[in-house]
Amino acid sequence: MSGSDLVFNLSPGGHLSGEIRVAGDKSISHRAIMLGSLANGVTEISGFLEGDDSLATLNAFRAMGVQIDGPTNGNVTIHGVGMHGLKPPEGVLDLGNSGTSMRLLSGLLSGQSFDVEMVGDRSLNARPMKRITVPLAMMGAVVEGTDAGTPPLKVKGGQQLKGILYKMPMASAQVKSSLLLAGLYAEGETCVIEPAPTRDHTERMLQGFGYEVRVNGHAASLSGGGELQATRIDVPADISSATFFMVGAAIAPNSDVLLQHVGINPTRIGVINILRQMGGAIEVQNERVVGGEPVADIRVRSSQLRGIQIPQDQVPLAIDEFPALFVAAACAEGETVLTGAEELRVKETDRIQVMADGLKALGVAATPTADGMVIRGGEISGGCVDSGGDHRIAMSFAMAALRASGEIKILDCANVNTSFPGFVALAQRAGLSITSDHQG
Ligand code: S3P
Repeated sequence: MSGSDLVFNLSPGGHLSGEIRVAGDKSISHRAIMLGSLANGVTEISGFLEGDDSLATLNAFRAMGVQIDGPTNGNVTIHGVGMHGLKPPEGVLDLGNSGTSMRLLSGLLSGQSFDVEMVGDRSLNARPMKRITVPLAMMGAVVEGTDAGTPPLKVKGGQQLKGILYKMPMASAQVKSSLLLAGLYAEGETCVIEPAPTRDHTERMLQGFGYEVRVNGHAASLSGGGELQATRIDVPADISSATFFMVGAAIAPNSDVLLQHVGINPTRIGVINILRQMGGAIEVQNERVVGGEPVADIRVRSSQLRGIQIPQDQVPLAIDEFPALFVAAACAEGETVLTGAEELRVKETDRIQVMADGLKALGVAATPTADGMVIRGGEISGGCVDSGGDHRIAMSFAMAALRASGEIKILDCANVNTSFPGFVALAQRAGLSITSDHQG
């Protein structure tokens, strides 16, 4: 895996304090590049996440002929080419570690007149893509992966797509978004029904670009053939990146942190609901709406957490937050039980197995199950943990050091840059004793 030699070293103890603005929202940053590129006119983005994942999307659109200025301090200017203005890229599109890029682009590129091949890194090349290629084929798209249903993916252009009504078998915003983006180019209506609410940034942002999206309960639909009008997008801080500091502040005695300008879209706030149910002291302050997305400042203070049975309805609303929540559970009194989260097994790593292995390496009683984990809170020892190249796992174990009795070394941390460049410096400023170094 690329950059597997970056190691985090943590000294035990300490606390978190101060006012912090974490990196921009990854999901919103991807979508801003995609829709801004297809819009008529110039889209200005501020707060853009300059992480490897969203930059992979940005570079893909540059490769398809879109003039994109920046990013400079989170500011990006996109000179939109209109719905049919993309050009064939010269080579394959390399999307690195980014599942969101590959899945959303599969839908969007199905509607173009040219062929494209997309590849990823070792992790992305092992992730399931049938969840999108199967429904896209029902729309008339031709997207071919390996026999195992994994990337590389070849999208054949020039197909006439038709709208479908699709009941998603799993709660996935990536699948929903992929189909809606294909639906922009389809004849008639595309309707996606989800088994449980998932992040709705695509629906909101399409509306922000002037495209009609009808949302009715668990169904989102749109009609193909419309146009997008350029707009301004202010990307809030990513609640998934704020999560590490929320958990860190909750578990470390004497902590008091204010996380600024965090996106609190109702489809993303499972982490707040779950931590509160565990006894976490979390205040949501100064709520406002910025560019169609709710935003707030979040204050978190240390608290004695207790183990809970995590409510099923919170699972899709906190799907990226479980690595950090497992660390919170390790510091809680009693047992925490997660079920219904089999999707965690097909993220950047198998997050159930990799987290269980890491927790056990730190002396925590963690038992993985097919669709979740049982964790008994207790002491955290020092030790060496392998993040498996998974950004969220690396940052979660960094926070575990706040309650550890010895030093923690975390291996394979380079992918922290996919979602949270600057994590180490920000964490140091907040009070974490962390350094990073390259080990060959
Ligand atoms: C994302 C959706 C989620 C999430 C991923 C980003 C998105 O994936 O895990 O980090 O931007 O749509 P699923 O929709 O597959 O659960």
